[in-house]
Amino acid sequence: MRNFISKSTQNLRPSGIRRYFDIAATMDDVVTLGIGEPNFTTPAHIMHAAVHSLEAGQTGYTSNSGTYELREAVANHIQKLYNLRYNPDSEVLITIGVSEALWLALKAILDPGDEVLVVEPCFVANAAAVEMAGGVPVPVPTYVEHEFQVTGADLEARITPRTRAILISYPNNPTGAVLTQDHILQIANVAEKYDLVVISDEIYERLVYGIEHICFAALPGMQERTILLSGMSKAYAMTGWRIGYATAPEPILSAMKKLHQYLIMSAPTMGQVASVQALVHGEDDVFAMRDSYNRRRRLIVDGFNSMGLTCFEPRGAFYAFPSIASTGMTDEEFCERLLREERVAMVPGSAFGASGDGFVRASYAVSEDNICRALERLERFLQHNGLLMPALAY
Ligand SMILES: Cc1ncc(COP(=O)(O)O)c(C=O)c1O
Repeated sequence: MRNFISKSTQNLRPSGIRRYFDIAATMDDVVTLGIGEPNFTTPAHIMHAAVHSLEAGQTGYTSNSGTYELREAVANHIQKLYNLRYNPDSEVLITIGVSEALWLALKAILDPGDEVLVVEPCFVANAAAVEMAGGVPVPVPTYVEHEFQVTGADLEARITPRTRAILISYPNNPTGAVLTQDHILQIANVAEKYDLVVISDEIYERLVYGIEHICFAALPGMQERTILLSGMSKAYAMTGWRIGYATAPEPILSAMKKLHQYLIMSAPTMGQVASVQALVHGEDDVFAMRDSYNRRRRLIVDGFNSMGLTCFEPRGAFYAFPSIASTGMTDEEFCERLLREERVAMVPGSAFGASGDGFVRASYAVSEDNICRALERLERFLQHNGLLMPALAY
């Protein structure tokens, strides 16, 4: 029989995260810092809004673009945060998470073989989404020495006549880096100079610690060339509701809508109702969860540093990204041995792009108890392997 699977699907690399979860699923008592998902359940008033809508019989499709109430809530939310106006009729699209929005954005702007500068390390789906949309991902590595910031020169060095877009994602998964004003302006200058679209995934925009998030589209002249992506998953603890959104100038957004309408029809109705409630009445919940992540952030970053695993100071999202170079192991070997020997799951940095090599990603969107248990086990792991200096003991 012939191989029924297309070459393009065969060529897609499986996510580097999956393997560790598969191993962890065969073991008992694993402490997992592997998943990028809040351990909170969705705030009760948001769930109640959805339950009421079901009881009131709101169980059908919505408009392809999403309910007007939610599009308006999204537009008002962005205006309030960044003083940036989008028209809910023509410039806002409700999607199945940022995951769908990302693919729509790429598919809407790429012809086969077009190149996208993908700033790395980054969310595991980014390069794959470019390929799935027929494009070619061009990695732009960033490094801890430069606080995982991308410069204009880094981008310019990789531009070719086929370059169409820059894909950025800050606050960053996996590093926790937040772009500085200077670096974000450098990206804007390159976008303008080479007439590129910027796809800015700002899903962690509300989770920043003692620092302001700068919205890329709010920079002078950038709204007209930016596809802004965000959603409910992270800030409102709503990963399972599957609601995200894209905002963009009308011609780009209507192209995305055309794809969305054939692919999805409309995002889940119940999730859209819940999202209106979250955006309009969920601000206190966001602040409470953010304060809690901030405490956990200190706990885990100090824990890694005290064991000699130098940890970049994350200023956003909910990930720590310590270097494991001092152990002499590769990041994959480290994660696999830590899982098998001490039942702690983390993700190798190289799963997020080659420049993540030598680091591991630990999510601190887990309980403080689990962070403490993971750190105790990690300390034991380092000790057993002769890698913990007594003076550095946690
Ligand atoms: C940077 C980034 N973008 C997008 C997503 C996917 O988000 P959603 O749940 O909205 O599809 C994630 C999930 O981990 C992420 O880290």
